[in-house]
Amino acid sequence: MKAANSSQSPDFLLNNRPVSVRGVDPQTTLLDYIRAQGLTGAKEGCAEGECGACTVVLVANRAGGSEYRAVNSCLMLAPMAAGHEIYTVEALAAGGKLAEVQQAMAAGGGSQCGYCTPGFVMSMFAEHYRPGRVGPCDPHELGGNLCRCTGYRPIRDAALSLGPAPSGDFLDRLSRPAPRLEAIEYESAGARFSRPNSIEKCLSILAGDPEARLISGGTDLVVESNLRSRRWKHLVSVEAIGELREFSESARTITIGAALPLNEIAMRWSTAPDVCRQWLQLFASPPLRNRATLGGNLATASPIGDGAPLLLALDASVRLASQRGRRTIPLASFFTGYRRTALAPDELITAIEIPKPLPEFVRFYKVAKRRMDDISTVAAAMAMDWDASGRIARARFAFGGVAPVPLRVLAAEEAVIGPHGGQRWNDAAVERVQAALEKTLDPIGDHRGSREYRLAVAKSLVAKFLWERREAAA
Ligand SMILES: Cc1cc2nc3c(=O)[nH]c(=O)nc-3n(C[C@H](O)[C@H](O)[C@H](O)COP(=O)(O)OP(=O)(O)OC[C@H]3O[C@@H](n4cnc5c(N)ncnc54)[C@H](O)[C@@H]3O)c2cc1C
Ligand code: FES
Ligand code: FES
Repeated sequence: MKAANSSQSPDFLLNNRPVSVRGVDPQTTLLDYIRAQGLTGAKEGCAEGECGACTVVLVANRAGGSEYRAVNSCLMLAPMAAGHEIYTVEALAAGGKLAEVQQAMAAGGGSQCGYCTPGFVMSMFAEHYRPGRVGPCDPHELGGNLCRCTGYRPIRDAALSLGPAPSGDFLDRLSRPAPRLEAIEYESAGARFSRPNSIEKCLSILAGDPEARLISGGTDLVVESNLRSRRWKHLVSVEAIGELREFSESARTITIGAALPLNEIAMRWSTAPDVCRQWLQLFASPPLRNRATLGGNLATASPIGDGAPLLLALDASVRLASQRGRRTIPLASFFTGYRRTALAPDELITAIEIPKPLPEFVRFYKVAKRRMDDISTVAAAMAMDWDASGRIARARFAFGGVAPVPLRVLAAEEAVIGPHGGQRWNDAAVERVQAALEKTLDPIGDHRGSREYRLAVAKSLVAKFLWERREAAA
């Protein structure tokens, strides 16, 4: 497909048919756009990425070929689809014959009112065709889809009943690369959407327009647009900037592009320790992780974001760029206040750097109302190294949800390192850390948890970190 260029109408492939986004407000969601084309299988349930009724798949690169990725079309803006290849549920039975995932759902009684069904079918379809899948489909891939009436057992059984993806056009498509995203400029209804394809062009757009607002995966920003009616005169997408989507690992550093979606980080970080894999899986749901990025996560400076605590415990830095030059600052000094960062208005995050070697023992804890697909009430990441005599050589205690910003609690770290060298990691040390937390943390109380609850949780996680260390060392 010929990708859009600097024209006024972003083009993309929708169910194998070229379409052009014309005359619609740049903040129109992809969901509204495709439904306006008569493709009404995808539904709006929540407009905030929680229910999956709007799920469609897009074609993305995977090791030379490509894969289908489930995404929430309510969280993509129509111009963000430019250059993509997107399929809705209507494409699956285009020849009049149900796709295997649809047959499995029907045979297993996986649908009652049917509102959620197209979304489930599309998530299941992406998993059915996942390259390299061995064994049954993984029901966790349906984690972003909610059903209010059928119950999950028949849906899960439908997924588990599927064998290998059948031969045919959908399978053949995966042997070719995904479309390459080009730069676009789109303007309509008095608002502008730019998608530069290099850092330099992006920085020049930012320098030239103080009202420009960056957008990456859109999983935060589009919620603000949909639910709080926020409007921006000029959105600048970083999705087509190759440098922001790189991942590399050297002997000294792991470098993660700011615009690399979370699921791709998991795929490309082949040496990631278990704690980092678990951390990535605890973010939201699979369709969210297919779009959400670490750059977007850190830039929101959310006190309950899950990105910062672990990265703080790993001594990460953020690389920033503007037309005035590039700089790298420790993440610990990036958050300057509630929802505020050290980013200048014309600056963007290009990458996150994690120094090596990684600490010897690291844990990430997310305490939320639900185990999966929920925002943290308290998040904590702790890391420790010991010297040859078993004394603590490095300690990091980082938290989210207990202060206006995600933070490293230096007083807690000093309590176990001390002026005269490290101490042993034992019950007495836990008590000293807890006392430091008591003095330093300043949680708020809200519907997720009271101030006292959050403080108690933070302190109990430090004790858990000791138990887990004892278990690991036993
Ligand atoms: C249903 C749902 C569940 C969620 N669950 C979680 C969760 O479990 N844990 C969690 O931490 N978060 C969660 N989130 C929040 C969100 O998904 C994450 O914060 C995500 O990582 C944001 O990334 P993004 O690329 O989508 O950001 P966007 O929405 O594109 O942007 C967010 C902000 O970052 C700025 N920005 C984006 N990229 C850059 C850049 N490179 N440089 C400078 N500024 C930039 C934008 O201007 C904007 O202000 C959830 C959101 C939803 C809707
Ligand atoms: S409408 Fe609920 S996730 Fe999109
Ligand atoms: S079948 Fe009714 S919501 Fe799932």
